[in-house]
Amino acid sequence: MAEAVKVSGLRNVVAGESSISTIDGARGILSYRGIDIHELVRRSHFEEVVYLLHRGGLPTREQLEAFRAQLARERALPDGVLPVLRALPRGTHPMTTLRTTVSALAGFDPDGGDDRPPAAARKSLRLTAQMATVVAAIDRVRNGRTPLAPDARLSHAANFLYMLTGERPGEAAARALDVALVLHADHEFNASTFAARVAASTLADVHGAITAALATLKGPLHGGANEAVMQALEEIGRKERAAEWVRETLAAKRKIMGFGHAVYRTEDPRATHLRELSRRIGEETRQGRWYEITAALEEAVRAGKALYPNVDLYSASLYRALGIPTDLFTPLFAVSRVAGWTAHVLEQLANNKLIRPESEYVGPRDVPYVPIERRG
Ligand code: COA
Repeated sequence: MAEAVKVSGLRNVVAGESSISTIDGARGILSYRGIDIHELVRRSHFEEVVYLLHRGGLPTREQLEAFRAQLARERALPDGVLPVLRALPRGTHPMTTLRTTVSALAGFDPDGGDDRPPAAARKSLRLTAQMATVVAAIDRVRNGRTPLAPDARLSHAANFLYMLTGERPGEAAARALDVALVLHADHEFNASTFAARVAASTLADVHGAITAALATLKGPLHGGANEAVMQALEEIGRKERAAEWVRETLAAKRKIMGFGHAVYRTEDPRATHLRELSRRIGEETRQGRWYEITAALEEAVRAGKALYPNVDLYSASLYRALGIPTDLFTPLFAVSRVAGWTAHVLEQLANNKLIRPESEYVGPRDVPYVPIERRG
Protein backbone atom coordinates (compact mmCIF):
# COMPACT_ATOMS: atom_id res chain seq x y z
CA MET A 1 0.00 0.00 0.00
CA ALA A 2 1.31 3.48 -0.91
CA GLU A 3 2.38 5.70 1.95
CA ALA A 4 -0.30 8.16 3.08
CA VAL A 5 0.29 11.87 2.48
CA LYS A 6 -1.11 14.57 4.69
CA VAL A 7 -2.57 17.69 3.08
CA SER A 8 -4.47 20.26 5.09
CA GLY A 9 -7.97 20.83 3.71
CA LEU A 10 -7.18 18.42 0.85
CA ARG A 11 -5.78 21.36 -1.18
CA ASN A 12 -4.11 20.30 -4.46
CA VAL A 13 -5.17 16.70 -3.89
CA VAL A 14 -6.76 15.04 -6.90
CA ALA A 15 -9.56 13.06 -5.26
CA GLY A 16 -11.02 11.46 -8.38
CA GLU A 17 -11.61 11.77 -12.11
CA SER A 18 -14.40 13.82 -13.63
CA SER A 19 -15.37 14.99 -17.09
CA ILE A 20 -18.06 17.43 -15.96
CA SER A 21 -16.27 20.71 -15.35
CA THR A 22 -12.77 22.04 -14.86
CA ILE A 23 -11.09 25.12 -13.42
CA ASP A 24 -7.76 26.63 -14.34
CA GLY A 25 -7.14 28.57 -11.14
CA ALA A 26 -4.05 30.39 -12.38
CA ARG A 27 -5.67 31.68 -15.56
CA GLY A 28 -9.21 32.11 -14.24
CA ILE A 29 -10.86 29.68 -16.63
CA LEU A 30 -13.96 27.57 -15.95
CA SER A 31 -15.53 25.22 -18.47
CA TYR A 32 -18.44 22.78 -18.43
CA ARG A 33 -17.81 19.64 -20.51
CA GLY A 34 -14.96 21.54 -22.17
CA ILE A 35 -17.01 24.61 -23.17
CA ASP A 36 -15.79 27.90 -21.74
CA ILE A 37 -18.18 29.51 -19.26
CA HIS A 38 -17.97 32.86 -21.10
CA GLU A 39 -19.24 31.17 -24.24
CA LEU A 40 -22.09 29.51 -22.32
CA VAL A 41 -23.10 32.82 -20.73
CA ARG A 42 -23.19 34.49 -24.15
CA ARG A 43 -24.93 31.77 -26.11
CA SER A 44 -26.66 29.25 -23.86
CA HIS A 45 -29.21 29.13 -21.04
CA PHE A 46 -29.81 27.11 -17.89
CA GLU A 47 -31.93 24.28 -19.35
CA GLU A 48 -29.35 23.63 -22.06
CA VAL A 49 -26.58 23.71 -19.44
CA VAL A 50 -28.43 21.08 -17.38
CA TYR A 51 -28.58 18.90 -20.49
CA LEU A 52 -24.88 19.48 -21.10
CA LEU A 53 -23.93 18.56 -17.54
CA HIS A 54 -26.22 15.53 -17.30
CA ARG A 55 -25.83 14.10 -20.78
CA GLY A 56 -22.25 15.10 -21.60
CA GLY A 57 -22.78 17.21 -24.74
CA LEU A 58 -24.97 19.89 -26.31
CA PRO A 59 -28.46 18.81 -27.45
CA THR A 60 -29.89 19.04 -30.94
CA ARG A 61 -32.93 21.32 -31.29
CA GLU A 62 -35.31 18.35 -30.89
CA GLN A 63 -33.43 16.96 -27.92
CA LEU A 64 -33.46 20.37 -26.24
CA GLU A 65 -37.19 20.84 -26.78
CA ALA A 66 -37.97 17.40 -25.34
CA PHE A 67 -35.61 17.99 -22.41
CA ARG A 68 -37.12 21.41 -21.64
CA ALA A 69 -40.62 19.94 -21.66
CA GLN A 70 -39.51 17.13 -19.39
CA LEU A 71 -37.86 19.52 -16.90
CA ALA A 72 -40.98 21.70 -16.90
CA ARG A 73 -43.20 18.65 -16.26
CA GLU A 74 -41.07 17.56 -13.33
CA ARG A 75 -41.24 20.93 -11.53
CA ALA A 76 -44.41 20.21 -9.56
CA LEU A 77 -44.11 19.02 -5.96
CA PRO A 78 -46.04 16.07 -4.52
CA ASP A 79 -48.82 17.43 -2.23
CA GLY A 80 -47.57 15.34 0.66
CA VAL A 81 -44.32 17.24 0.97
CA LEU A 82 -45.87 20.65 1.76
CA PRO A 83 -46.93 19.70 5.33
CA VAL A 84 -43.28 18.78 6.02
CA LEU A 85 -42.18 22.22 4.93
CA ARG A 86 -44.97 23.87 6.95
CA ALA A 87 -44.15 21.89 10.09
CA LEU A 88 -40.86 23.68 10.75
CA PRO A 89 -40.95 26.61 13.20
CA ARG A 90 -41.21 30.15 11.84
CA GLY A 91 -37.76 31.65 11.59
CA THR A 92 -36.07 28.41 10.50
CA HIS A 93 -33.35 29.31 8.00
CA PRO A 94 -34.58 28.53 4.45
CA MET A 95 -31.46 26.40 3.86
CA THR A 96 -32.50 24.20 6.79
CA THR A 97 -36.05 23.95 5.45
CA LEU A 98 -34.71 23.22 1.96
CA ARG A 99 -32.42 20.46 3.23
CA THR A 100 -35.27 18.89 5.21
CA THR A 101 -37.74 19.13 2.33
CA VAL A 102 -35.33 17.61 -0.19
CA SER A 103 -34.65 14.77 2.22
CA ALA A 104 -38.43 14.27 2.60
CA LEU A 105 -38.92 14.28 -1.19
CA ALA A 106 -37.14 10.90 -1.22
CA GLY A 107 -40.20 9.38 0.42
CA PHE A 108 -42.57 10.80 -2.20
CA ASP A 109 -40.47 10.13 -5.29
CA PRO A 110 -42.21 7.91 -7.87
CA ASP A 111 -38.98 5.94 -8.27
CA GLY A 112 -39.06 5.19 -4.55
CA GLY A 113 -36.20 3.06 -3.28
CA ASP A 114 -34.99 2.17 -6.78
CA ASP A 115 -31.42 3.40 -7.12
CA ARG A 116 -30.42 1.56 -10.28
CA PRO A 117 -28.89 3.86 -12.94
CA PRO A 118 -32.06 4.69 -14.95
CA ALA A 119 -34.00 5.49 -11.75
CA ALA A 120 -31.07 7.51 -10.35
CA ALA A 121 -30.98 9.53 -13.60
CA ARG A 122 -34.74 10.21 -13.43
CA LYS A 123 -34.48 11.28 -9.78
CA SER A 124 -31.58 13.56 -10.65
CA LEU A 125 -33.56 15.35 -13.31
CA ARG A 126 -36.66 15.54 -11.12
CA LEU A 127 -34.74 17.04 -8.21
CA THR A 128 -33.07 19.55 -10.52
CA ALA A 129 -36.52 20.62 -11.71
CA GLN A 130 -38.08 20.63 -8.22
CA MET A 131 -35.42 22.59 -6.33
CA ALA A 132 -36.70 25.97 -7.59
CA THR A 133 -40.28 25.03 -6.70
CA VAL A 134 -39.27 24.09 -3.14
CA VAL A 135 -37.34 27.34 -2.63
CA ALA A 136 -40.25 29.47 -3.87
CA ALA A 137 -42.71 27.45 -1.73
CA ILE A 138 -40.55 27.99 1.38
CA ASP A 139 -40.76 31.74 0.91
CA ARG A 140 -44.47 31.79 0.24
CA VAL A 141 -45.35 29.51 3.15
CA ARG A 142 -43.33 31.56 5.65
CA ASN A 143 -45.12 34.68 4.42
CA GLY A 144 -48.52 33.04 4.89
CA ARG A 145 -49.13 32.70 1.17
CA THR A 146 -50.12 29.66 -0.86
CA PRO A 147 -47.34 28.13 -2.98
CA LEU A 148 -47.93 28.66 -6.69
CA ALA A 149 -48.02 25.89 -9.26
CA PRO A 150 -45.16 26.16 -11.79
CA ASP A 151 -45.90 27.61 -15.23
CA ALA A 152 -44.56 25.22 -17.88
CA ARG A 153 -44.47 27.99 -20.51
CA LEU A 154 -41.81 29.91 -18.60
CA SER A 155 -38.07 29.25 -18.57
CA HIS A 156 -36.63 27.78 -15.39
CA ALA A 157 -35.36 31.21 -14.28
CA ALA A 158 -38.54 33.12 -15.17
CA ASN A 159 -40.70 30.44 -13.56
CA PHE A 160 -38.72 30.68 -10.32
CA LEU A 161 -39.30 34.45 -10.13
CA TYR A 162 -42.97 33.89 -10.97
CA MET A 163 -43.43 31.24 -8.26
CA LEU A 164 -41.66 33.51 -5.76
CA THR A 165 -43.48 36.78 -6.46
CA GLY A 166 -46.69 35.77 -8.24
CA GLU A 167 -45.76 38.04 -11.15
CA ARG A 168 -44.26 37.09 -14.47
CA PRO A 169 -40.85 38.80 -14.61
CA GLY A 170 -39.64 41.13 -17.35
CA GLU A 171 -37.16 39.87 -19.90
CA ALA A 172 -34.13 41.58 -18.34
CA ALA A 173 -34.75 40.14 -14.86
CA ALA A 174 -35.41 36.64 -16.22
CA ARG A 175 -32.29 36.72 -18.36
CA ALA A 176 -30.15 38.05 -15.48
CA LEU A 177 -31.28 35.20 -13.24
CA ASP A 178 -30.79 32.71 -16.08
CA VAL A 179 -27.17 33.84 -16.45
CA ALA A 180 -26.67 33.53 -12.68
CA LEU A 181 -28.03 29.97 -12.86
CA VAL A 182 -25.67 29.13 -15.73
CA LEU A 183 -22.72 30.51 -13.74
CA HIS A 184 -23.50 28.57 -10.54
CA ALA A 185 -24.33 25.21 -12.14
CA ASP A 186 -21.07 23.37 -11.52
CA HIS A 187 -17.59 23.90 -10.12
CA GLU A 188 -15.74 20.58 -10.04
CA PHE A 189 -14.88 19.18 -6.60
CA ASN A 190 -16.09 22.08 -4.44
CA ALA A 191 -17.08 21.22 -0.86
CA SER A 192 -20.80 20.53 -1.44
CA THR A 193 -20.20 18.52 -4.61
CA PHE A 194 -17.55 16.50 -2.84
CA ALA A 195 -20.00 15.86 0.02
CA ALA A 196 -22.55 14.62 -2.53
CA ARG A 197 -19.95 12.33 -4.11
CA VAL A 198 -18.88 10.94 -0.73
CA ALA A 199 -22.51 10.08 0.06
CA ALA A 200 -23.07 8.62 -3.42
CA SER A 201 -19.89 6.55 -3.11
CA THR A 202 -21.51 4.60 -0.25
CA LEU A 203 -24.38 3.84 -2.70
CA ALA A 204 -26.72 6.01 -0.63
CA ASP A 205 -29.73 7.31 -2.58
CA VAL A 206 -29.71 10.43 -4.80
CA HIS A 207 -31.87 12.47 -2.39
CA GLY A 208 -29.51 11.57 0.46
CA ALA A 209 -26.48 12.72 -1.52
CA ILE A 210 -28.17 16.02 -2.41
CA THR A 211 -29.22 16.52 1.22
CA ALA A 212 -25.54 16.15 2.21
CA ALA A 213 -24.63 18.71 -0.46
CA LEU A 214 -27.25 21.16 0.80
CA ALA A 215 -25.99 20.82 4.37
CA THR A 216 -22.49 21.60 3.12
CA LEU A 217 -23.50 24.51 0.90
CA LYS A 218 -25.04 26.38 3.84
CA GLY A 219 -21.72 27.29 5.48
CA PRO A 220 -20.45 30.87 5.04
CA LEU A 221 -17.09 29.65 3.74
CA HIS A 222 -18.99 28.09 0.82
CA GLY A 223 -22.48 28.93 -0.51
CA GLY A 224 -23.49 30.89 2.59
CA ALA A 225 -21.03 33.60 1.57
CA ASN A 226 -23.53 35.37 -0.73
CA GLU A 227 -25.87 35.99 2.22
CA ALA A 228 -22.92 37.11 4.36
CA VAL A 229 -21.87 39.55 1.59
CA MET A 230 -25.31 41.17 1.70
CA GLN A 231 -25.08 41.53 5.47
CA ALA A 232 -21.67 43.20 5.03
CA LEU A 233 -23.08 45.59 2.39
CA GLU A 234 -25.86 46.56 4.78
CA GLU A 235 -23.35 47.07 7.58
CA ILE A 236 -21.20 49.28 5.33
CA GLY A 237 -24.32 51.23 4.37
CA ARG A 238 -22.77 53.70 1.90
CA LYS A 239 -19.91 53.50 -0.55
CA GLU A 240 -17.87 56.18 1.24
CA ARG A 241 -17.58 53.91 4.28
CA ALA A 242 -16.19 50.90 2.39
CA ALA A 243 -12.47 51.68 2.84
CA GLU A 244 -12.79 52.24 6.59
CA TRP A 245 -14.89 49.06 6.99
CA VAL A 246 -12.26 47.04 5.13
CA ARG A 247 -9.47 48.44 7.31
CA GLU A 248 -11.40 47.60 10.48
CA THR A 249 -12.32 44.12 9.30
CA LEU A 250 -8.81 43.20 8.22
CA ALA A 251 -7.34 44.68 11.41
CA ALA A 252 -9.71 42.47 13.40
CA LYS A 253 -8.42 39.51 11.31
CA ARG A 254 -11.90 38.76 10.05
CA LYS A 255 -12.44 37.39 6.57
CA ILE A 256 -14.22 39.52 4.02
CA MET A 257 -16.93 37.43 2.44
CA GLY A 258 -17.05 37.26 -1.35
CA PHE A 259 -13.25 37.41 -1.71
CA GLY A 260 -10.59 34.73 -2.04
CA HIS A 261 -10.87 31.24 -3.38
CA ALA A 262 -9.38 27.84 -2.74
CA VAL A 263 -8.51 27.38 -6.43
CA TYR A 264 -8.57 30.71 -8.31
CA ARG A 265 -5.45 32.83 -8.01
CA THR A 266 -6.90 35.52 -10.23
CA GLU A 267 -10.42 36.84 -10.85
CA ASP A 268 -13.11 34.17 -10.71
CA PRO A 269 -14.52 34.24 -14.28
CA ARG A 270 -18.05 34.09 -12.87
CA ALA A 271 -17.48 37.33 -10.95
CA THR A 272 -16.77 39.18 -14.22
CA HIS A 273 -20.32 38.51 -15.49
CA LEU A 274 -22.00 39.02 -12.14
CA ARG A 275 -20.31 42.42 -11.72
CA GLU A 276 -21.69 43.60 -15.06
CA LEU A 277 -25.16 42.12 -14.40
CA SER A 278 -25.29 43.68 -10.95
CA ARG A 279 -24.41 47.08 -12.44
CA ARG A 280 -26.98 46.79 -15.22
CA ILE A 281 -29.88 45.40 -13.20
CA GLY A 282 -29.09 47.78 -10.33
CA GLU A 283 -29.41 50.69 -12.76
CA GLU A 284 -32.63 49.35 -14.30
CA THR A 285 -34.31 48.74 -10.97
CA ARG A 286 -32.95 51.96 -9.39
CA GLN A 287 -31.17 49.89 -6.77
CA GLY A 288 -27.69 50.80 -8.02
CA ARG A 289 -26.64 51.65 -4.48
CA TRP A 290 -25.82 48.01 -3.66
CA TYR A 291 -23.67 47.67 -6.77
CA GLU A 292 -21.86 50.89 -5.88
CA ILE A 293 -21.10 49.76 -2.32
CA THR A 294 -19.84 46.42 -3.70
CA ALA A 295 -17.60 48.16 -6.23
CA ALA A 296 -16.19 50.42 -3.48
CA LEU A 297 -15.66 47.34 -1.31
CA GLU A 298 -13.81 45.62 -4.14
CA GLU A 299 -11.60 48.64 -4.70
CA ALA A 300 -10.77 48.92 -0.99
CA VAL A 301 -9.98 45.22 -0.61
CA ARG A 302 -7.83 45.16 -3.74
CA ALA A 303 -5.88 48.19 -2.47
CA GLY A 304 -5.10 46.47 0.82
CA LYS A 305 -4.69 42.79 -0.05
CA ALA A 306 -4.09 40.55 -3.06
CA LEU A 307 -7.62 39.13 -2.93
CA TYR A 308 -9.95 38.78 -5.90
CA PRO A 309 -13.75 38.71 -5.90
CA ASN A 310 -15.37 35.29 -6.10
CA VAL A 311 -18.81 34.26 -7.37
CA ASP A 312 -20.54 35.44 -4.20
CA LEU A 313 -19.44 39.07 -4.20
CA TYR A 314 -21.59 40.54 -6.96
CA SER A 315 -24.36 37.93 -6.81
CA ALA A 316 -25.49 39.56 -3.53
CA SER A 317 -26.21 42.99 -5.03
CA LEU A 318 -27.67 41.39 -8.17
CA TYR A 319 -30.13 39.27 -6.18
CA ARG A 320 -31.05 42.25 -4.02
CA ALA A 321 -31.82 44.25 -7.17
CA LEU A 322 -33.97 41.35 -8.41
CA GLY A 323 -35.99 41.59 -5.19
CA ILE A 324 -34.86 38.27 -3.72
CA PRO A 325 -34.84 38.13 0.11
CA THR A 326 -31.31 37.88 1.54
CA ASP A 327 -31.80 34.53 3.25
CA LEU A 328 -32.88 33.01 -0.09
CA PHE A 329 -29.51 33.81 -1.72
CA THR A 330 -27.94 30.49 -0.71
CA PRO A 331 -31.06 28.45 -1.54
CA LEU A 332 -30.95 30.15 -4.96
CA PHE A 333 -27.35 28.92 -5.35
CA ALA A 334 -28.76 25.41 -4.76
CA VAL A 335 -31.47 25.94 -7.41
CA SER A 336 -28.63 26.03 -9.92
CA ARG A 337 -25.94 23.83 -8.34
CA VAL A 338 -28.32 20.87 -8.03
CA ALA A 339 -27.67 20.39 -11.75
CA GLY A 340 -23.96 19.90 -11.07
CA TRP A 341 -24.45 17.89 -7.87
CA THR A 342 -26.70 15.38 -9.60
CA ALA A 343 -24.38 15.14 -12.63
CA HIS A 344 -21.56 14.32 -10.18
CA VAL A 345 -23.67 11.75 -8.32
CA LEU A 346 -24.45 9.99 -11.61
CA GLU A 347 -20.78 10.13 -12.65
CA GLN A 348 -19.72 8.73 -9.27
CA LEU A 349 -22.24 5.89 -9.51
CA ALA A 350 -21.14 5.03 -13.05
CA ASN A 351 -17.61 4.26 -11.88
CA ASN A 352 -17.84 3.95 -8.15
CA LYS A 353 -15.22 3.49 -5.51
CA LEU A 354 -15.97 4.21 -1.87
CA ILE A 355 -14.36 7.55 -0.91
CA ARG A 356 -12.58 6.88 2.34
CA PRO A 357 -9.44 8.87 3.24
CA GLU A 358 -7.35 8.42 6.36
CA SER A 359 -6.74 10.73 9.27
CA GLU A 360 -3.59 11.49 11.17
CA TYR A 361 -4.25 10.44 14.74
CA VAL A 362 -2.87 13.07 17.12
CA GLY A 363 -4.59 11.93 20.35
CA PRO A 364 -3.05 10.00 23.25
CA ARG A 365 -2.16 6.29 22.97
CA ASP A 366 -2.07 3.35 25.36
CA VAL A 367 -4.42 5.04 27.82
CA PRO A 368 -5.52 2.67 30.64
CA TYR A 369 -9.26 2.25 31.19
CA VAL A 370 -10.18 3.66 34.61
CA PRO A 371 -13.28 2.08 36.21
CA ILE A 372 -16.02 4.66 36.94
CA GLU A 373 -15.73 4.40 40.73
CA ARG A 374 -12.07 5.41 40.56
CA ARG A 375 -12.56 8.47 38.27
CA GLY A 376 -12.61 12.16 39.19
N1 COA B 1 -10.75 37.94 3.59
C1 COA B 1 -9.58 38.21 4.23
N2 COA B 1 -8.50 37.42 4.12
C2 COA B 1 -8.59 36.34 3.35
C3 COA B 1 -9.76 36.02 2.65
C4 COA B 1 -10.86 36.87 2.79
N3 COA B 1 -12.00 36.63 2.17
N4 COA B 1 -9.59 34.89 1.95
C5 COA B 1 -8.33 34.50 2.20
N5 COA B 1 -7.74 35.38 3.03
C6 COA B 1 -6.38 35.31 3.54
C7 COA B 1 -6.29 34.30 4.65
O1 COA B 1 -6.56 34.88 5.92
C8 COA B 1 -4.88 33.81 4.51
O2 COA B 1 -4.03 34.79 5.06
P1 COA B 1 -2.72 34.33 5.87
O3 COA B 1 -1.89 33.57 4.87
O4 COA B 1 -2.15 35.62 6.33
O5 COA B 1 -3.25 33.45 6.97
C9 COA B 1 -4.66 33.82 3.02
O6 COA B 1 -5.56 34.80 2.50
C10 COA B 1 -4.95 32.47 2.39
O7 COA B 1 -6.25 32.13 2.80
P2 COA B 1 -6.80 30.68 3.00
O8 COA B 1 -7.96 30.71 3.94
O9 COA B 1 -5.68 29.73 3.24
O10 COA B 1 -7.33 30.40 1.58
P3 COA B 1 -8.11 29.16 1.24
O11 COA B 1 -7.75 28.87 -0.13
O12 COA B 1 -7.97 28.09 2.21
O13 COA B 1 -9.61 29.68 1.46
C11 COA B 1 -11.70 30.57 1.16
C12 COA B 1 -10.48 29.97 0.49
C13 COA B 1 -12.79 30.70 0.11
C14 COA B 1 -12.20 29.66 2.30
C15 COA B 1 -11.34 31.95 1.75
O14 COA B 1 -10.83 32.77 0.73
C16 COA B 1 -12.51 32.61 2.42
O15 COA B 1 -12.82 32.29 3.58
N6 COA B 1 -13.23 33.55 1.71
C17 COA B 1 -14.38 34.19 2.28
C18 COA B 1 -15.60 33.29 2.16
C19 COA B 1 -16.12 33.19 0.75
O16 COA B 1 -16.29 34.18 0.07
N7 COA B 1 -16.41 31.98 0.35
C20 COA B 1 -16.96 31.69 -0.95
C21 COA B 1 -15.96 30.98 -1.81
S1 COA B 1 -16.56 30.81 -3.46
